[in-house]
Amino acid sequence: MKNNATQRLKGQAALVTGSSSGIGAGVAKAMAREGAKVVVNYSKSPEGAEKVVQEIRDSGGTALAIGADVSQEDQVLRLFERMYEAYGTIDILVNNAGLQKDAAFVDMTLADWQLVLDINLTGQFLCARQAAREFIRRGVVPERSRAAGKIICMSSVHEVIPWAGHVNYAASKGGVMLLMKSIAQELARHKIRVNSIGPGAIKTPINNEAWETPEAEKKLLALIPYGRVGEPTDIGDVAVWLASDESDYVHGTTLFVDGGMTLYPGFAENG
Ligand code: BGC
Repeated sequence: MKNNATQRLKGQAALVTGSSSGIGAGVAKAMAREGAKVVVNYSKSPEGAEKVVQEIRDSGGTALAIGADVSQEDQVLRLFERMYEAYGTIDILVNNAGLQKDAAFVDMTLADWQLVLDINLTGQFLCARQAAREFIRRGVVPERSRAAGKIICMSSVHEVIPWAGHVNYAASKGGVMLLMKSIAQELARHKIRVNSIGPGAIKTPINNEAWETPEAEKKLLALIPYGRVGEPTDIGDVAVWLASDESDYVHGTTLFVDGGMTLYPGFAENG
């Protein structure tokens, strides 16, 4: 473990939704390393969540797995209650749970559309609302942070880049952008900081087809000026900074962590 003086989230309670794998697992581990007590939320994979919890505990951190489908209001309420039973409160919410259900637009079923909107957008609404209620009730605890609470929404480069074949996903992330900004505008007076991270292509199970084979990876790299596919630790490190007082004046913004994917590299030698 790092020594306490460098633990930027020391004593804070963090909930990372959807952290049994992928970016969420990377964020949960990074926050635990910085001294946060972490809730590893999962919906489908208790085994994955327990593995993340064990890894955190093995390196001296504090973590607990709690199951809940973030699109279900009763489950979200119970998730927060169980977190408060364990840690007393919440200081950091990382609204990370998300999925893809890809289909050509004309073949997309209402169920495909609804599922993605329910998890990726409604889930973020439900969790942010619960966290904000607790932040307002409790207020600032100066020993822990300058803010009364921090909300980090996991968005995507697809909050700005249109994505054929994935319109449900892109619409959900476009929605997350204005959800985040509107919450940020409304909650600033309570000293609640709200921001998004917009990852580009990160090596996780959600997009393994896009980077698993050398051919696929080569094609993907044409979209990434910086020349490498990201890793969950790239996002974990940024999430720690965004949750810490080092970013205390950063509010209502999306930080793209994408190796330059949002620079529209197709225009580098064209247009
Ligand atoms: C998607 C990935 C995709 C990346 C870049 C992410 O939001 O979940 O599947 O590789 O955006 O397009």
